Amino acid sequence: MQPIIKKKILLGVTGGIAAYKSAELVRQLVKAGAEVRVVMTPAAREFVQPLTYQALSGHRVYVDLFDAQADSAMDHIELARWCDLMLVAPASADFLGKMVAGYADNLLLTLCLASRQPVAVAPAMNQQMFANAATTANLEQLQARGVLVWGPDAGEQACGEVGPGRMLEPAQLLANIETQLQPGKLQGVEVLLTAGPTREAIDPVRYISNRSSGKMGYALAGAALRAGANVTLVSGPVSLSAPSGVKLLRVVSAGQMHDAVMRAVANSDIFIGCAAVSDYRVDGEADHKLKKSTQAMSLQLLPTTDILAAVSALDKRPFCVGFAAETRDLEKYALAKLQQKNLDIIAANLVADGSGGFETDFNRLEVFWPGGGHSIAQASKPEVAKQLIDLIGERYTGALSDNPSTT
Ligand code: PMT
Repeated sequence: MQPIIKKKILLGVTGGIAAYKSAELVRQLVKAGAEVRVVMTPAAREFVQPLTYQALSGHRVYVDLFDAQADSAMDHIELARWCDLMLVAPASADFLGKMVAGYADNLLLTLCLASRQPVAVAPAMNQQMFANAATTANLEQLQARGVLVWGPDAGEQACGEVGPGRMLEPAQLLANIETQLQPGKLQGVEVLLTAGPTREAIDPVRYISNRSSGKMGYALAGAALRAGANVTLVSGPVSLSAPSGVKLLRVVSAGQMHDAVMRAVANSDIFIGCAAVSDYRVDGEADHKLKKSTQAMSLQLLPTTDILAAVSALDKRPFCVGFAAETRDLEKYALAKLQQKNLDIIAANLVADGSGGFETDFNRLEVFWPGGGHSIAQASKPEVAKQLIDLIGERYTGALSDNPSTT
């Protein structure tokens, strides 16, 4: 593992007895060569004096929104942008709830909202509070939004109870930070990916589409970006914002998605087809709204071009990753698509058993490549995306050395 020398860590401390352990974390981070700035919530000051963190980090500690604004060198937005990673440790139940709700009534919450960098939280609370459905739901929501949740540990608690809720030890948090800040596997690699549904018009007001929300594809775009890639995202109509830094090309129909991909593909090293592209379009879209009648009506459907197959058939093709959305026989159908579309990787999800797929915040994947495979267990889509991008990075680098012609 590469050291974290000169990496910038913003450590947020909220009100909890584990705040004393964060002082040790600051010491270990500084010893490892990181630059550390500490932001405390007002409640955290009830447990540890700012001076402790100031002495250990060698920098003033920020507590109030107006402290940061008064510091001309670093206002609260700059502080959020300054860091490579933000870690809230300990993260109290109250703070996590406010993060979920988007509160910004103290400096640390404002920074969480303003951060473009990875944000991690290390929950610490009484085991009963941790087991409460509200805490569980809050942590799930944060994970679904891409916040890294580290811990908690189980064991004896300050209140005398035993169970899950202890903050991870400083050494473990340091190890997590080191892992998180390793240089991405896709530094400088051009990634082109599709996401969301397509819409095939029947008339000016009606269309055929599917339930894709774009969440999986947008999570992949974010994960590829964080792995160091330059990302172009061709997206069907969804109500999501693209991660900042991603080049977004909006399309509506399968034909438009095909054309946008074909224009962009020459520059790409990796193509990921995550969109739920309509397999059929309506033959002859009506110019005007079709009138209701009592008669049965039929639509003539024509197949659309398979974008993924077209990309993988190019003479100079990128490394091709497809998805398979199946309601049964996942492995059988996925392996058939891997072979028929001549893919390097296929990521298959079951879309009928409630474990993931369309619309949900969670997913799980069975990933196959010629001669191998790997399962990604159910997790938030950002977490699943990170694991898939890591895998793609490994296979892509391997493919480069094994078979340079695939680039
Ligand atoms: O968007 P979400 O709500 O988060 O849901 C995520 C998802 C379920 C849509 C996603 O994980 C997924 O499975 N995407 C692929 C959906 C799909 O169309 O699967 P398929 O098995 O029908 O298609 C196989 C592959 O061919 C896919 O990579 C697809 O992008 C591609 N394809 C299909 C048809 C077509 N005309 N062109 C294509 O490129």
